[in-house]
Amino acid sequence: MLGCADFAWRKAVPALLQAPELELAAVASRSLEKAEKFATTFGGDPLAGYERLIERRDIDAVYVPLPPSLHEGWVLKALEAGKHVFVEKPFSLTAASARRMVEAARSRGRFLMEDFAFRHHGQTAGAREMIGRGDLGEIRVLRASFGYPPPAPANIRYDRSLGGGALLDCGVYCAQAALLFLGQGLKAVGVHLRQDQAKGVDVSGAAMLASPSGQVAQLAFGFEHFYQCEVALWGSQGKLTLERAFTPLPDQEAVVWLERQGRREERRFPAENQYVSIFQHFARTAVSGKDFEAEYARILEQAVCVEAIQKGALP
Ligand SMILES: NC(=O)c1ccc[n+]([C@@H]2O[C@H](COP(=O)([O-])OP(=O)(O)OC[C@H]3O[C@@H](n4cnc5c(N)ncnc54)[C@H](OP(=O)(O)O)[C@@H]3O)[C@@H](O)[C@H]2O)c1
Repeated sequence: MLGCADFAWRKAVPALLQAPELELAAVASRSLEKAEKFATTFGGDPLAGYERLIERRDIDAVYVPLPPSLHEGWVLKALEAGKHVFVEKPFSLTAASARRMVEAARSRGRFLMEDFAFRHHGQTAGAREMIGRGDLGEIRVLRASFGYPPPAPANIRYDRSLGGGALLDCGVYCAQAALLFLGQGLKAVGVHLRQDQAKGVDVSGAAMLASPSGQVAQLAFGFEHFYQCEVALWGSQGKLTLERAFTPLPDQEAVVWLERQGRREERRFPAENQYVSIFQHFARTAVSGKDFEAEYARILEQAVCVEAIQKGALP
């Protein structure tokens, strides 16, 4: 792991340790003291400096929970050293940057994956199954929202040079939901990003996307809100709502609601730690050497979609 990130402390590494396919070999930090503290809690060798981890030959894969603007540099170094790489969202700042990383992974035969854990939760698979068998009729509209209260003032999300801002932090989940449920070819037809002039980043936003066949996605996101996390799909015959679509709790059943002809039914999916599930998927795919292209294509579609939203918001 490169960098003792807050998310790694709270969620990712506790999950990684539950995945039998993975072992935490080493933790690198800019500060040896931080690495030692992390390693004392979770294990692995503490290392001062990311290069020292990349050059270790006994390491098969690198987890990159660094600020977004640092992803590309370290991902390329890890790939050059022959590692598979698991990268936090947002994968890249631009579509061109995503292409460079995917090309490097492809040419070295290494697996590269972005951490959108909700895609690997049974709730998401269940919703897709319900849609696939026509429970909602034809899908017309997707509404996705993800918002939370303001982070601390020194947080990386307020630093433009580190890849901060609400679109890259939480808007990307809404874009990923639109691509997952509506498919490729979405165009940004309306965007607004609310800038905090003092901080120099977008702190909230909304976007409307349209598919070639006329389906519409309405996205709302930000970190100046009370907690909000939901995906709703409206079809010609019914509506499906995923509560906590991006953050289902690991110890509670996930609940989705299906509304049809005036009736509202509850569907429940077993409790699952989605971070364990995605780490397992990453490890198994890397070891199998197969199906890398599906994730590369998904990474690129996502990067193109997010860039279209960014461009749509330009004055
Ligand atoms: N998948 C999810 O559900 C989820 C949830 C939250 C966050 N994330 C993602 O995880 C990544 C990290 O987010 P976070 O909130 O955990 O951030 P964070 O606590 O600020 O951690 C980032 C780490 O990067 C390292 N770093 C290297 N250069 C840095 C610099 N110039 N400034 C600040 N840190 C620097 C630091 O580690 P050292 O000092 O130890 O080197 C720091 O601890 C982001 O990409 C974020 O979007 C994902």
